[in-house]
Amino acid sequence: MKLSIEKVYPFISKEDILKLGKEAKDCNVVVENGSGKGNDFLGWVNLPSSVSAEEIADINAAAEKLRAKCEVIVVIGIGGSYLGAKAVIDALSSSFDLLKTDRKNPVMLYAGQNIGEEYLAELLESLKGKQFGLINISKSGTTTEPAIAFRLLKSVLEGNVGKAEAKERIIAVTDAKKGALRKLADQEGYKTFIIPDNVGGRFSVLTPVGLLPIAAAGYDITALLNGASEMEKATASSIEFSENKSEIYAATRNALYRSGKKIEILVNFHPKLHYFGEWWKQLFGESEGKEHKGIFPAAVDFTTDLHSMGQWIQEGERTIFETVISVEKPNKSVVIPTDEANLDGLNFLAGKGVDQVNKMAELGTQIAHVDGGVPNLKISIERINEFNLGQLIYFFERACGISGYMLKVNPFDQPGVEAYKKNMFALLEKPGYEAETKAIKERL
Ligand code: PA5
Repeated sequence: MKLSIEKVYPFISKEDILKLGKEAKDCNVVVENGSGKGNDFLGWVNLPSSVSAEEIADINAAAEKLRAKCEVIVVIGIGGSYLGAKAVIDALSSSFDLLKTDRKNPVMLYAGQNIGEEYLAELLESLKGKQFGLINISKSGTTTEPAIAFRLLKSVLEGNVGKAEAKERIIAVTDAKKGALRKLADQEGYKTFIIPDNVGGRFSVLTPVGLLPIAAAGYDITALLNGASEMEKATASSIEFSENKSEIYAATRNALYRSGKKIEILVNFHPKLHYFGEWWKQLFGESEGKEHKGIFPAAVDFTTDLHSMGQWIQEGERTIFETVISVEKPNKSVVIPTDEANLDGLNFLAGKGVDQVNKMAELGTQIAHVDGGVPNLKISIERINEFNLGQLIYFFERACGISGYMLKVNPFDQPGVEAYKKNMFALLEKPGYEAETKAIKERL
């Protein structure tokens, strides 16, 4: 993985970034030695290098058992209990996976990431006559969205195959001791995996939260962890600032923020990375957006969104910078054919791979955006595979911890997420919320 920051120099100087280098380094030390805010949630820091071969084997065995029985696997979870797995599985799967008939891998579907009645009704309709299994993920074990989805899907599964067989097709990933899901899983006798206490949701993709669905989808979690592990070493605080990509990224984005760039756009030119952007948005948004501070994380898919957001990015308020994830080589190739009539005037592209055109769009966009006042950072990976995704995941997690401390917030809590839940429970008259129900009704 490479990180290039030269295209921010027209806006902030190398010295501006170097000045923050010491701060980034100090914050990285704080991440490492656990002396900062939220230090009881630093279990992710050494996770890649500490996952044991037994744990990986246990996850692969459970995934294999589910794959043998199920043509469809529904992953139930929301936020950090969903986005990492979805990001990696989408990045590695065929874009038209659902249409594949010669499948080796189960169809992966998702539930519990919304409270859409039609979504759930349509999911239940699509599962009719299908052999399916469930991976139910919730650290707290009490989150409403996945709990509703699990209640519905469990009852359909038990109706289809009976309670005893359903038990073989349900795996729960949750806390070791606490929460409704732990109680339910123990009582029903489901196979379970534990989310470590000291790993928060958005930093949990390299625990069974992400690893189990990724393995169930047929991908290589050892390679994913190897990539992450390599990045764990490469971003340790002992690595000099000039070589430490997470520190450089954290320092650069904070220097830009302090110069008035309040919005960061994560850009991909590869449609399979759409959910990687969603995962990244949660990682940085939930970690940094607090105490009325924080870079607003947005994500776009180019060239698609150049035809929608492109205008704003090129000429809107100059408060943005962009970080592009660039993939050097596609895993599959398509060459543009010659057409004798050339009615579309495209023969100048004949013989070129589609990716060559995409690369020129990428370079052309970078030049246009920098000319238009948008600082540009570029992260390049050779190709999309498990190893490189593992590197990217850890690189961003480490940078997020450092950057959050540079902003002087606790990067590992999310107190703001509770506000809507409290109101929703009051409005739904949940037992225990009587005072809140009375108060909110008076405001309506
Ligand atoms: O990052 C986080 O902590 C959150 O996004 C959680 O992952 C999300 O709210 C789901 O929580 P839980 O796993 O407890 O159901």
